[in-house]
Amino acid sequence: MAPWCAWAGRSASKRRSMPPSMRRCCLRSWPPEGSSPSDAECSCHSIRSAMPTTSGWSKLEVRPETRERHPMTEAPHNAPGQHWNAADYRHNADFVSALGHEVAKLLAPRPGERILDVGCGDGSLTETLVKAGATVVGIDTSPDMVAAAKARGLDARVMDAHNLPFEHEFDAIFSNAALHWMLNHEAVLASLHRALKPNGRFVAEFGGHGNVAAICTAMLAALQARGISGRARFPWFFPTVEEYTESLEAVGFTVESIELIPRPTRLPTGMTGWLETFAAPFLHGLDEYLREAILNDALALLAPSLRDSHGNWTADYVRLRVKALC
Ligand code: BEZ
Repeated sequence: MAPWCAWAGRSASKRRSMPPSMRRCCLRSWPPEGSSPSDAECSCHSIRSAMPTTSGWSKLEVRPETRERHPMTEAPHNAPGQHWNAADYRHNADFVSALGHEVAKLLAPRPGERILDVGCGDGSLTETLVKAGATVVGIDTSPDMVAAAKARGLDARVMDAHNLPFEHEFDAIFSNAALHWMLNHEAVLASLHRALKPNGRFVAEFGGHGNVAAICTAMLAALQARGISGRARFPWFFPTVEEYTESLEAVGFTVESIELIPRPTRLPTGMTGWLETFAAPFLHGLDEYLREAILNDALALLAPSLRDSHGNWTADYVRLRVKALC
C-alpha cells in the first residue's frame, strides 16, 4: 500500500473514524461529498478491466494504481514499465538524436570542457560532443543503453539524474529528449545544479507542454474505455515555459533562453513502432490481449489526425529548449 495514501486499504469502520483531513487518496479528497465512506472506493485503488472469459465477460483486477496525484516532492523517479533496448530504439527512433543537433549547437561545446550528458541513450549525440574536444560523461538509467554507449568507446555510466553524486565538477550539462521521462523534475534540477561549477551552463531539449498531445489523449481514451486510469500511468513531464522557468529559478539557475518549439516529426516505422518504443508504461502489467486491444483503439483514434493518405505517420512533437546558467 502506498504510504502516502491514508484511505485505500483501511477497513470501512476505520475509514469512518478518520478525520476529514485524512480522508484522502493520492491527494484527492475521498470519498466524494455526500457518498458513504463504507462503500466508496478510491478509483486509484480499484482499477478494473473487463476481459472476455469462457463464461462471458468478467471483471479482473489489474494491479493497484498508486501514482495518481502524487505530490511532486514524493514523486517516483520514473514510470514503471519502461523497457529500453538499444537496437529497437535505433530502429524506431533514430530520428531523436538526429534532431538533437540544434540543441548541441546551442551548447557549443569547447575543447577541454568537462560535460555531463544526461540521458545519453546509446551515446550518438555524446559522441558529437566528444568530437568537439570535450571530456564527456554520459549517464542513463538503462543498462542496455549504457552498454551501447560504452561500445562506442564513451565514458557512460548507469545513473539516475534525480540524485547524482557530482559536486560542482562540470562546465556544462547537456540533455536531449530525456528529461521528460524524469518525473520529479525538482529533484533532477537540484541534482544538476549541484553537479555544475559556478557559472556552468545547462542546455537541454525535451518534450514541452502539448508534446505528443494527440497520442497522449488517444492512449488515455483507449485505457479509459476499459476502466483503466491512464493518468495514473502517465509516464511523462511536459512543462510550460513558465512552469520550467519557475523550477529552474527555484534551485538557483538563471534562465538565458527558453522556448517551446512545435516540431511535427515523421515516424519512420509508423505509430506502431513509436508506441512500441515509448508507450510501454501505459500498458504495464496488463495482459497481452488487453494491450493489443488498447493499442489498436489508440491507433484508430490517431489515424484521422496523424496518418496521411499515403499511410505515413507524423507525431505532434513540441520541444522545450532551454539554456540556463548556474
Ligand atoms: C519526445 O522525445 O518528445 C518523446 C519521446 C518519447 C515519449 C514522449 C516524448
